[in-house]
Amino acid sequence: MNAPKTIPFNQVRPVGREYQYMQEAVDLHHLSSGGRFAGQCEEWLERRLGTPRAILTHTCTHALELACLAIDLKPGDEVIMPSFAFVTAATAIALRGAVPVFVDISPDSLTLHPDTVARAITDRTKAVIVIHYAGYGAWVDGLREVCDRNGIHLIEDAAQAIDSSYLGRPLGTFGHLATLSFHETKNLIAGEGGALLINDAALIDRIEIMAEKGTDRAQFLQGRVEKYVWQDLGSSVRMGELPAAYLFAQFEEADHVFGYRRELWRRYHAGLTPMANEKGLSLPRHIPDSSGNAHLFYVLTRDRAHRDRLLSHLADHGVQSVFHYVPLHSSPAGQKFGRAHGPLTVTDQVADTLLRLPLYHSLSFDDVARVVEAVAAFEPPERDAP
Ligand SMILES: Cc1ncc(COP(=O)(O)O)c(C=O)c1O
Repeated sequence: MNAPKTIPFNQVRPVGREYQYMQEAVDLHHLSSGGRFAGQCEEWLERRLGTPRAILTHTCTHALELACLAIDLKPGDEVIMPSFAFVTAATAIALRGAVPVFVDISPDSLTLHPDTVARAITDRTKAVIVIHYAGYGAWVDGLREVCDRNGIHLIEDAAQAIDSSYLGRPLGTFGHLATLSFHETKNLIAGEGGALLINDAALIDRIEIMAEKGTDRAQFLQGRVEKYVWQDLGSSVRMGELPAAYLFAQFEEADHVFGYRRELWRRYHAGLTPMANEKGLSLPRHIPDSSGNAHLFYVLTRDRAHRDRLLSHLADHGVQSVFHYVPLHSSPAGQKFGRAHGPLTVTDQVADTLLRLPLYHSLSFDDVARVVEAVAAFEPPERDAP
């Protein structure tokens, strides 16, 4: 008998009219930024999220870099962020010569808590970057309040959080600025892709210029100026038409994609809940009033040896699972360019014990059942005597 095929950690498949729209983009003879599909994607984001301006970028990383440029981060400035985070919020800060200040996460949200942030603010703090881990919200209204009280910017790294909400309001609309990712591992994809959401209308004109290589080309194209010239700092960050055409096809199917992912997530949760205690696993948590987008499904083990054993057990059963993140405060560049504030106990513990299971649009319900069965066959290590 053939061994069942391995369930990969991620898989990329079209969900709608991707081929048709990419062909149309080619036939329109306009493949650089500012084309029809990019415009449609930006309008879709503005409408769906209720943000005054969305700019499509090559990646979320570019959007984070643009955000740090737009708030005028300078050498010596500090930006507070979680150490349990994807690296590019930190690189965006460090590229401006500013210092990422790594603080611990809350065990309830796996991201920043307003009180931890308030304690880390100094007279050099210019901004806070909150990462909405796993597509769940932080107490983002509280974070905004702390930022407003101190006259600093809040940036939401909502790379994982499209279609998530807190208090009924979309994540990505609480900060002055927010970023999204359309990397192929995200809920809606363009291969590589991102967006900057500009919620603070006062920043729109300047960011339009920065996103157009520092020129007023956008105003020129709208007939607002006669010629375009170099006006400010800037970079080339705007998404071209081919990925935008792919992305717009994904946007059209968004409700279906989001609904299916939520059902996959629900099945993991329902399947694993009865055995979680016996296997020594904790299931995903989220704070009240936060509604997630089923971006990822994780379990937390008791310790690192337990996690490593589960990871290799799943691999033996044909299931690819992965762990992350190596905390930024203990990484070589984190120590060189950033600094830690306060104990980072929860960060270290979560980084040692978190394991992600496969979750993507082409995963079938049978695949989820197979992963759950594989966990059911797992024998956790004995607990150390207290
Ligand atoms: C929280 C977070 N921020 C930023 C990024 C970077 O996104 P991109 O690959 O689009 O630059 C990711 C991607 O994995 C992410 O998960």
